Amino acid sequence: MYVIAHLSDPHLDGSSVARDRLRRVTAYLRGFSRPVDVVLVTGDLADHGLAAEYAEVAAELALDVPVLLLPGNHDVSAPLRAGLPVESPGEGHPVHQVRDVGEARFVLLDTSVPGEDHGLLSADSLAWLSGVLAKAVDGPLFMAFHHPPNELQHPVMDQWILRDAEPFAAVLRDKPITAILTGHVHNGVSTTFAGHPLLVAPGIRSSVPLPFEPAAANGLVDTEAAPGLALHLYAPPQPLVTVYRSVPST
Ligand SMILES: [Fe+2]
Ligand SMILES: [Fe+2]
Repeated sequence: MYVIAHLSDPHLDGSSVARDRLRRVTAYLRGFSRPVDVVLVTGDLADHGLAAEYAEVAAELALDVPVLLLPGNHDVSAPLRAGLPVESPGEGHPVHQVRDVGEARFVLLDTSVPGEDHGLLSADSLAWLSGVLAKAVDGPLFMAFHHPPNELQHPVMDQWILRDAEPFAAVLRDKPITAILTGHVHNGVSTTFAGHPLLVAPGIRSSVPLPFEPAAANGLVDTEAAPGLALHLYAPPQPLVTVYRSVPST
């Protein structure tokens, strides 16, 4: 069984509040009786894209297993590249990566738009992705990026999803993709995109109640909700299984 610990949106900002929430999750992972195969963090690693914040991300995510990191709308390409172990050709924006960890291939896309909260993939990015997906893979293939393309039926969050998703869907359709893994909406979500499972990890920094749920005491985001993560279990011939966990304070 191949296990992905899928984390998202730690939003580290130098505060003990953000750091402690991420530490709850990493401490929980360290308590496993077997290590996960990989830890994937789908963006909003830092809250303001500062070099000091990426130093904190690097320190807090220095784990004993491989860690894959990709940017969200709160991240900034240059300091992220300078401070974190990403493997992306070129310089600046975008920070796309193809990473093989054990038997699995991860295509890590940068859906961020500098200075904006919504996501978008340029024609150049889609052309690059088409080339990547043209290469055969033997094991599972995971697409990971920050902004889900599907509306959450939330009037605020839905302004900031991945826009112009149809050309992207056309690239992904009928490809041998095991699952698409995203973050950004600070909720554990299961849906589909381009005919593939789309699994969204909860936000570590906070949660975002739906409009009909009890409102958060402090507005849009509930900073009191326990941080969470997704565990994706790949054990063929079974289909991928995802377990969502919240991590209460100890
Ligand atoms: Fe976020
Ligand atoms: Fe985000």
